[in-house]
Amino acid sequence: MRILGIETSCDETSASVVEDGREVFSNVVTSSLKDHRKYGGIIPEIASRRQIELIHTVVREALEEAGFKLEEIDAIAVTKSPGLIGSLLVGVSFARALAFALKKPLIEVDHIKAHLYANFLMTEKQELPTLPAIGLVVSGGHSSLFYVKNFNHCILLGQTRDDAAGEAYDKVARILGLGYPGGPILDRLAKEGVNKQIHFPRAELRDTFDFSFSGVKTAVLVHLKKNKAPDESSVKRIAYAFQESVVSVLVEKSIAACKKKKSKTLLIGGGVAANSALRQKLEWRGREEEIRVFFPPLSLCMDNAAMIAGLAYHLRKD
Ligand code: KG4
Ligand code: ZN
Repeated sequence: MRILGIETSCDETSASVVEDGREVFSNVVTSSLKDHRKYGGIIPEIASRRQIELIHTVVREALEEAGFKLEEIDAIAVTKSPGLIGSLLVGVSFARALAFALKKPLIEVDHIKAHLYANFLMTEKQELPTLPAIGLVVSGGHSSLFYVKNFNHCILLGQTRDDAAGEAYDKVARILGLGYPGGPILDRLAKEGVNKQIHFPRAELRDTFDFSFSGVKTAVLVHLKKNKAPDESSVKRIAYAFQESVVSVLVEKSIAACKKKKSKTLLIGGGVAANSALRQKLEWRGREEEIRVFFPPLSLCMDNAAMIAGLAYHLRKD
């Protein structure tokens, strides 16, 4: 079954053709990110206008790259939620119209679960995860832990009570005057700022799988107020200490969830899954605890339509 997936939940406009939930024939991703940079975050009005301008071209390119005509597609899949309403509306309206005109089924997909599904798409690494598993989704909008029985049955174990992990990265980068999005910038700087002098609090929130990242953001702000304007090397040290605080909580809660649910498989997804410290620390801890940890390839960590078309294959009713 060949599915055309469409993803327009935020600033990325993406379309992809995936066969049988596994084989990615094309995955075209474009983004209006550069139009938002000067504001330090995504402006919903700009994002939705750019979606309207880009959607036709992106879908056409995805079909061309895959080498299929619209008539050779068996179903259309689209992100239904969560996301920015204006951006979502563009993709959903486009997909509904396409499905109606082609008389093909329409499959509406949850964006968060699709991030976890990215681990099941075909990559060079041939080993596939098995279910049930624990799933950690960490992105600009979400930090959630799930017990994934199967993709029709995911139980939410915990989520952030305030900022999402990616949001905390973006806000701290803004406080430090580093630009947007903050995740990749702070990740790079942290590698050069290894130190033990700066320590930011870790919101362990015992006896729950919920997260909280607004405290560490405030701690960075207080640290900056107490100290003189940071030079380049102290910015790197702050980046390292901040990352240690966020990543250690993500790692330990995920491992604790695996233990509680007696799961030997951990799936990671979302933009923050690209973080080098998170990848490294989870691999170490996974090995210690004999838990298999799966990350999507970097290109499938960010928002993309391949994960939508892939998951749709398992949600179809035929
Ligand atoms: O999944 P995504 O593309 O969009 C949402 O659904 O939110 O995630 C974007 C988020 C941004 O907050 C960005 O700063 C963060 O992912 N991010 C990272 C890294 N790369 C992207 N955070 C930490 N380290 C990274 N290397
Ligand atoms: Zn996302």
